[in-house]
Amino acid sequence: MIVGFDNVSLAYEGEPEILREVSFTLGEGEFRFLTGPSGAGKTSLLKMIYLAHRPTRGAVTLFGEDVTAAPREALPALRRRIGVVFQEFRLLDHLTAFENVALPMKVAGINPNQYREDVRELLNWVGLGHRIDARPPSLSGGEKQRVALARALVAKPDLILADEPTGNVDPVMGEKIMKLFIELNKLGAAVIVATHDITLIEALGKPIMHLEGGRLHDQPTTPPAKKGKRG
Ligand SMILES: Nc1ncnc2c1ncn2[C@@H]1O[C@H](COP(=O)(O)OP(=O)(O)O)[C@@H](O)[C@H]1O
Ligand SMILES: [Mg+2]
Repeated sequence: MIVGFDNVSLAYEGEPEILREVSFTLGEGEFRFLTGPSGAGKTSLLKMIYLAHRPTRGAVTLFGEDVTAAPREALPALRRRIGVVFQEFRLLDHLTAFENVALPMKVAGINPNQYREDVRELLNWVGLGHRIDARPPSLSGGEKQRVALARALVAKPDLILADEPTGNVDPVMGEKIMKLFIELNKLGAAVIVATHDITLIEALGKPIMHLEGGRLHDQPTTPPAKKGKRG
C-alpha cells in the first residue's frame, strides 16, 4: 500500500474540522483524481500525505508504514519518495528549465553525470526538449506546469501528488497535462491529482474521490449535480 488514511480528521488550530473521518487506500501503481469544490480540503488532504500537516484524529500510512506520529527527522526520507506539483513550489525564474528540473538532484548533492541525461529525457517527454535552456518568464503557463512536472519526476518517486496542475492553462493544454499524469502512472508511479475541474477529467475514465462537507465519497464516478460557479 502506498497511502492509507484510516478515519483521518483534520482541524486547523482553533477551527472546526475541515476533514472528517476520511478513509481510503491507494495501492501501488494506482491512479486517483481528488475532486471537490473550492475549500473542500483537497490541498489539505494532499499536504497530509506529504506530512506537512498531521491529522487531528486517525492514522496515516505511507509506503506501508504508519507515519501518523513519524518524527520530524524521518520526514525528508519519506518525502524523497514523493514527487509534488504544488502551486507554492514555483519554478525559479533565474534558472533554465534544465536547471529547475535538475535542482532537486543538485540539492541532494548528486553528481550531475548521474542525472543530466534523465533531465533531458524528462524534458523531452513533457514536450519541452526545445525549451531546455529557456527561463520560466519566457515560458507559457502550460510549459511551466510541464517543467514543474518534470522536476517532480526527476528523483523517480513512487508517489506523485499534484494540486490543481491545470490551474492556469487552457482546456486543451489541461487535457494534455492530465494525460501526462496518466501516462506516468502507466510507467508505474502511484498518482493523486487534485482538481476542482470535473469536466476536464470526466472523459478520462479514472477513479475519482470526491470531497465535500469534510467527507470523502469514495465512488462518485457520477459527479455531483452542477450548481452555479465551481471553483
Ligand atoms: N493553513 C491553514 N490554516 C487555517 N485554515 C486553513 C489553512 N489552509 C486551509 N485552510 C482552510 O481549510 C479549508 C480547506 O482548504 P483547502 O484544503 O485549501 O481546500 P481546497 O484545496 O479543496 O480548495 C478552507 O476553509 C481553508 O480556508
Ligand atoms: Mg486547493
